[in-house]
Amino acid sequence: MSERRVLLIIGGGIAAYKAPELVRQLKAQGLATRCLLTAAAEQFVSPLSLASVSGDKVYENLFDLTDEAEMGHIQLSRDADLILVAPATADLIAKMAQGLANDLASTSLLATDKPVMIAPAMNVRMWEHAATQRNLAQLSADGIGIIGPDEGDMACGEFGLGRMSEPSEIALAAKKAIDQAPPRQTPLQPAKPLSGRKVLVTAGPTYEPIDPVRYIANRSSGKQGYALASALSALGAEVHLVTGPTALNDPENVTTTRVETARQMLEACQACLPVDAAIMAAAVADWRPAQSQDAKIKKTKSGLDDLKLVENPDILATLAAHATQRPSLVVGFAAETNDIESYASEKRVRKKCDWIVANDVSANSGIAGGVMGGDENQIHLLTASGSEPWEVMSKTDVAVKLAAQIATYFATHEETA
Ligand code: C5P
Repeated sequence: MSERRVLLIIGGGIAAYKAPELVRQLKAQGLATRCLLTAAAEQFVSPLSLASVSGDKVYENLFDLTDEAEMGHIQLSRDADLILVAPATADLIAKMAQGLANDLASTSLLATDKPVMIAPAMNVRMWEHAATQRNLAQLSADGIGIIGPDEGDMACGEFGLGRMSEPSEIALAAKKAIDQAPPRQTPLQPAKPLSGRKVLVTAGPTYEPIDPVRYIANRSSGKQGYALASALSALGAEVHLVTGPTALNDPENVTTTRVETARQMLEACQACLPVDAAIMAAAVADWRPAQSQDAKIKKTKSGLDDLKLVENPDILATLAAHATQRPSLVVGFAAETNDIESYASEKRVRKKCDWIVANDVSANSGIAGGVMGGDENQIHLLTASGSEPWEVMSKTDVAVKLAAQIATYFATHEETA
């Protein structure tokens, strides 16, 4: 029980040739190592040399039935105090970020409740690619330790960030992580940078009644707002979601209030104050019928020629201009069909919000199924310091990235509501 154990997952990169040296260095730190090779890693390092240096069987293939019977992938990860992925290739990092599990390495990583540390190694351009950086941010938010990479000459002839850290450094970091790790059997708590923060999110459309059976509404599905509520909650925030009518289930670990009209939404939002941040993703109806009839309006030959509309309260502008309880960060959404950045930037100033998440909801946005109701989104994030275009991604990914930026904002703005 006193012997501390590392499960070393070796990815398929050129740096895998350093794995035997890494095992030696881990041993020098008093850590026993069991090696697990991905299929590609076997091209770079021999299982036999790893078996002799680790003094243990080397695990290679998910479908080796003898291994599964003797030592399943769950047991492999349970038996370790730390899982170390070195080299962590771009592919392994992407799999980890997505929770994919289609070989022994990725299955063990998904099955573990132990601390995980990765030592990335890849070509500098792969390292700098937005997809890799996004995946790393996700792993970091999941509480996974990242060591390196270092700068230097690479096997591919380029120079830059991407070389795997030296085995001695990795072994030291592994020892430190194990020393700080909770005792075996205790699940690893993911990083919660927004814990202690209260966040209000609005989502969905509003329904503005004309009579008991008819209403004015719009095509908002609520998907982006719900995804945001979940992403913020996953980072530890206390999330209050105020939503118009949608077909979606209440997100887990979020206090959800369902409303119909803009005025009810405003009231529910005001009841949540004070909050640290207000993220207004709802597509609030701009107008409502001046009078909602108590009885169903009858169809007449002359048509309906006196449906008067009055303006709804602007919830975003109301919270952003709140005299005593203005949230520290107010984020508005802007659905535009043309001149997105200029309209959105004007809106940011006019509504006195800090950020605007602007998206193209025109039919030619290039997003299959359209933004409204669809699963993808492409946004521009407008802040006081300018506009940042994001690539097309799923609404979940937009939510995760935006939640991470909100966490970064609060990391530099200390006061709580
Ligand atoms: O002016 P526009 O409706 O395009 O502004 C969109 C932003 O303002 C969104 O963040 C939306 O949630 C918010 N809004 C609001 N109350 C309204 C209208 C819009 O909170 N009545």
